Amino acid sequence: MTHATMKPALGTPDEIDVRLNAAEANGLIKLKYISANLGVEVEGVDLKNTLSTEQVAAVYDALLRHKVLVFKRIGLNHEQQVRFTYELSEASPNIGAPTIGHTVFGHVDQYPELFSVYQGEKSKPRNIERYEATAAADPWTGYHCDITACVNPPSIGMLRGEIIPQGVGDTNFGSLAAAYRTLDESTKAQVATLFAEHEYKFGRSKGSEAGDSIASRRMVSHHPLVTVHPDTGEEILFNSPGFLKFVVGMSSEDSTALLHKIWKHSVEYTIQHVWDQGDLVVWDERSTTHRAPTDIYSSGTERQLYRTTLVGQPMHGLDGRQSQIVEGEPMLSCAEELASNMHVGRSGTALTGNVFQSAFPEPS
Ligand SMILES: [Fe+2]
Repeated sequence: MTHATMKPALGTPDEIDVRLNAAEANGLIKLKYISANLGVEVEGVDLKNTLSTEQVAAVYDALLRHKVLVFKRIGLNHEQQVRFTYELSEASPNIGAPTIGHTVFGHVDQYPELFSVYQGEKSKPRNIERYEATAAADPWTGYHCDITACVNPPSIGMLRGEIIPQGVGDTNFGSLAAAYRTLDESTKAQVATLFAEHEYKFGRSKGSEAGDSIASRRMVSHHPLVTVHPDTGEEILFNSPGFLKFVVGMSSEDSTALLHKIWKHSVEYTIQHVWDQGDLVVWDERSTTHRAPTDIYSSGTERQLYRTTLVGQPMHGLDGRQSQIVEGEPMLSCAEELASNMHVGRSGTALTGNVFQSAFPEPS
């Protein structure tokens, strides 16, 4: 199937805009724009209570068009976040059920769909100074889409702020659709049918608890460098610097030069979310990238968020070719993962995403 024959499941961006305008006019949802390229604040939808099918559809349309949704200070609890995650999973045939909290690191005790993202002095990575020096020189450092080492990485992610320090701890999000749209024509032609290798590997993490978890769930995949969003047909410059290692079939020098060009370009289309306690931020993993903060470790404060994600699909390139597994298993739903016993031995609550003793911080 080529791009020309792939019909977007939820409609073209223009068609979705018509629906969204009607939903706003009917009082189903209210949107406040954050930037020209991505991000809206959502009001008028009470996520503490069960949503109607129409409300779920309006929220999903808003997510497709604006890519990052911010629900300010809504103060959900674990049950309410999990319930909303299940509700959203019904919005499109291209999104799956909720995943287990984190495919590699496990889940919060008693809440198999939840992943704990904790940052503080006790989770400070050993190599944080080296990481920050790299990030200062290469502004794309740390940006990623979640777990793109997997052949079907999450389709949607969401984070809820529970303990939020002041003045530090912002999360950045970038639009990979805007990155593609604004790419120069010769680079567009160069990347049109290329694939890139994504691997779950962070520095010298061998022997640590995090390293052992990664090693026990090895994942390497090839994804198109330009993907077609299955719900909107939008073309996406699908790059996830935290996981993307090289362009398949290219010399190391050429691959690095091309990737640095793409990454530098992509971080020009970003927003910075300043958290308040109780915020819920939802992002489309297929069209955005994000970066966790690192300024908490030296601030004497701590930060606690909870993440849920929805199962995604292998991606299609412009020529219709799909993502391929090099190593590992596809991501499963939470129910399938629990039944498979692959989650056993992953410590979940204690081993949060930023405990990389000798590697750089990941995710969110
Ligand atoms: Fe992340």
